[in-house]
Amino acid sequence: MTTEIKICMGSACFAKGNQENLEFIQNYIEENNLDTKISIGGSLCENKCEIGPRIIVNDKEYTNVTKDDIKKILSEIE
Ligand code: FES
Repeated sequence: MTTEIKICMGSACFAKGNQENLEFIQNYIEENNLDTKISIGGSLCENKCEIGPRIIVNDKEYTNVTKDDIKKILSEIE
């Protein structure tokens, strides 16, 4: 099954960490040859900027996402 990761690309989430989070995810996918297993896309601001940065993984929303959260999320993908 492909894991679908959507990263909020609104300016608030992007400034609060999603720029780094996006780079981190892209590098992780590349290093681990996961490009057939993980698809990344962007999502628009949903006015939840205060709890950002937001990332949605298979329709599950994560808020205040840090790099450690991402590492954990990615490590659970097989
Ligand atoms: S910028 Fe992400 S919810 Fe507003």
